[in-house]
Amino acid sequence: VNQLEKIVAPVKSELKTLEKRINSILRENVFNEKFTGTFLNKGKKLRPIFLFLLARALGYRENDIVDYGIIVELLHNASLVHDDIIDHSLKRRGESTFNALYGNNIAVLLGDLLFLFSNKLAVEKRKFEILDILVEKNENLLIGEIEEGLNAGNVSLTEDEYMKIIKNKTASLFELVGEIACLLTNKKENDCEAIKGMSSLIGLSFQIIDDILDYTSEVKKVGKPVMNDLREKTLTLPIIYAMKKSYDLKEKVEKFFSDVSNDTLLYEIRDGVVELGGLKYAKEKALEMMKQTRGRIDKIPPSVYKDSLLALVDFIVKRSF
Ligand code: FPP
Ligand code: MG
Repeated sequence: VNQLEKIVAPVKSELKTLEKRINSILRENVFNEKFTGTFLNKGKKLRPIFLFLLARALGYRENDIVDYGIIVELLHNASLVHDDIIDHSLKRRGESTFNALYGNNIAVLLGDLLFLFSNKLAVEKRKFEILDILVEKNENLLIGEIEEGLNAGNVSLTEDEYMKIIKNKTASLFELVGEIACLLTNKKENDCEAIKGMSSLIGLSFQIIDDILDYTSEVKKVGKPVMNDLREKTLTLPIIYAMKKSYDLKEKVEKFFSDVSNDTLLYEIRDGVVELGGLKYAKEKALEMMKQTRGRIDKIPPSVYKDSLLALVDFIVKRSF
């Protein structure tokens, strides 16, 4: 957490305002005090932090950058509320999820409401270019989550297909941040493409790390269930790689999918993934993407914001939660 605090320092006031305003949005609505105490205000807020740093590094000085940060963060949280229903997850950020607290029916609606708050703020900006990209990225987000669901239990999922899924499901919100920063600073087409590409890479490496943590971390650290992807029959990079190397492992995974309550087999599979170098491979991929990202950030003129951006990318790949 300390490391993140240092990274955030140049945009601390923006972040404080964002937190205050999100809390007041939640309090004014169905989300009264009871809801503000939930996981909603406990996140790392990586997306708004990324937006603030990027926009400032590119020269945007207006205070309304906070509005855009809130739009992105509320959208992200809405998608998590729905994701936890889909993944049957009872914990997020160390707190009970809405599906755990109120059941799936109410949780769907609460997710919709958060989604609506995000949209409402976006509409209030009266900028069609913003709505255009928001709709586009939202569509990608949904397609990614749908594709992931449709591929549950598909042990033949390839690395390319996995990459496409996480590009949609996770990188889309980071791309949204990149595109907002571009739009607000009136960057040329070429620069925008580079910024978009860089944002996308950050999103991809973020998700690869997330998928590694599912295998390696503990509930205490990440604040959400671990070894949950396989229980949901979700195949991610470490195991996709490992199964390609070992038919034996692939067979074990198939067997596990016919009874996901078999914990002995689950941990045997995990050991197999480790031994076959699946985690190492995935980590190398994430590090390679980080290197590319750093190369692109290096082209931005020097500033404290740029330094923090570089540190943020580092943090995303080295984090343990
Ligand atoms: C977390 O993935 C989930 C996402 C990155 C996207 C979820 C998107 C939806 C549910 C679409 C709904 C969208 C709206 C706009 C309401 P994960 O399960 O791999 O991560 P986790 O381990 O943190 O749960
Ligand atoms: Mg999930």
